[in-house]
Amino acid sequence: MQPHENSGAFIFRNGRVLDPSRTIDRIADVLVVDGRIAEINAGLDIGGISERARTIDATGKWIVPGLIDMHVHLREPGEEYKETIASGTAAAVAGGFTGIACMPNTHPVNDCAAITQFILERAKYYGSCRVFPVAAISRNLEGNNLAEYGELRDAGAIAVSDDGRPVVNALLMRRALEYAQTFDLLVIAHSEDPTLSGGGLMNEGEISTRIGLRGIPNAAEEVMIARDLLLAELTGGRLHIAHVSTAGSVHLIRSAKSRGISVTAETAPHYFTLNDELISGFDPVYKVNPPIRSLKDIAAIKEGLADGTLDAIASDHAPHSVVEKDLEFEFAANGMIGLETSLPLALELVREGVISPLQAIAKMSFNPAAILKIPFGTLRKGAPADLTIIDPDLEYVIDVNRFRSKSRNCPFHGRAVKGRAIMTLVDGRLAFSE
Ligand code: DOR
Repeated sequence: MQPHENSGAFIFRNGRVLDPSRTIDRIADVLVVDGRIAEINAGLDIGGISERARTIDATGKWIVPGLIDMHVHLREPGEEYKETIASGTAAAVAGGFTGIACMPNTHPVNDCAAITQFILERAKYYGSCRVFPVAAISRNLEGNNLAEYGELRDAGAIAVSDDGRPVVNALLMRRALEYAQTFDLLVIAHSEDPTLSGGGLMNEGEISTRIGLRGIPNAAEEVMIARDLLLAELTGGRLHIAHVSTAGSVHLIRSAKSRGISVTAETAPHYFTLNDELISGFDPVYKVNPPIRSLKDIAAIKEGLADGTLDAIASDHAPHSVVEKDLEFEFAANGMIGLETSLPLALELVREGVISPLQAIAKMSFNPAAILKIPFGTLRKGAPADLTIIDPDLEYVIDVNRFRSKSRNCPFHGRAVKGRAIMTLVDGRLAFSE
């Protein structure tokens, strides 16, 4: 975000205020002054500042803390043809996000202070929202030596992860969980045992057998989650499991939480929306790692979201160009974009009755902020004015040609959905409006 003066004021009238940080769900007005949440109440009298306040009628709309996506791949540095910090954050605010955590699998890898600083500098000048860099667990994501967590934390990294690759060496993962505690860094695990998943292209099951593609068993994810839960218990480190896709993973995390292990977890919209039958057409737009799973897994993911086992919904926005994606299924890159579709897909769960509106917003704002220990995801008085206005009833068809993202690898193109962000305020500044 470019440096700016927060001299503006906004008054949002008569909206449904959903603030999971204080379990608030009621109709009220929200006043924003000088980049801060100034007041929330019904029938607010804004007296002296009414002249400089822009009035927005929010009747029928939701007013929520700025959404936070804790799992995004911005491809800068290195693959700017897929996404840049400018295009990725523009996509983020259009999707209702005011903050995003970006994964370190760039080129070069974000495993040293210079890259973290580079990302933050670019975000400051070319970004539309807040960017929170996640640094690498291991140097160059090679899984051999730990990166320098102290200098990464000082440079602005908020977590470490080798996302895109698992940490195969259990001792290295143990040391990461120990070392990260010194700097209060979260360790985000990409849970995959490559000896089980190796060479697999899709979920292992009836469909993979029928269409003859090599499968990735659920156990490839679950074995690693089980290991890392034990290592979190051993070390006391803060562990977060990325992109949970299987029923067994939900079960493992639920039981670890009940035993008091310090673990949090996220899933992505494609894991509760898409199933492996879709792969039958061999369209690589559905290729992602971990793979989209079975209907049984989808049901378990929904249960995990409903009972709080899964704390966050994150997009795992993974932009790729046609050069990597429009190939035979076997050769296509893994990943799908999600910043501009996460919210309407999460709202499908609300309409299905799986989670409440407040739960949906919590999983997309307050919970990720709490997990990352960043002071956002709240509409508390005095908090930075990061907020999102959602029209929950707006019906439209997802169209990749309207995306701000540079990439088009979205499996939801053409899907009729309901609900989207119509206004996104970052630090009191209008960053997006529809
Ligand atoms: O499908 C994926 N794409 N999974 C990952 O873990 C990494 C991501 C990417 O960076 O493209």
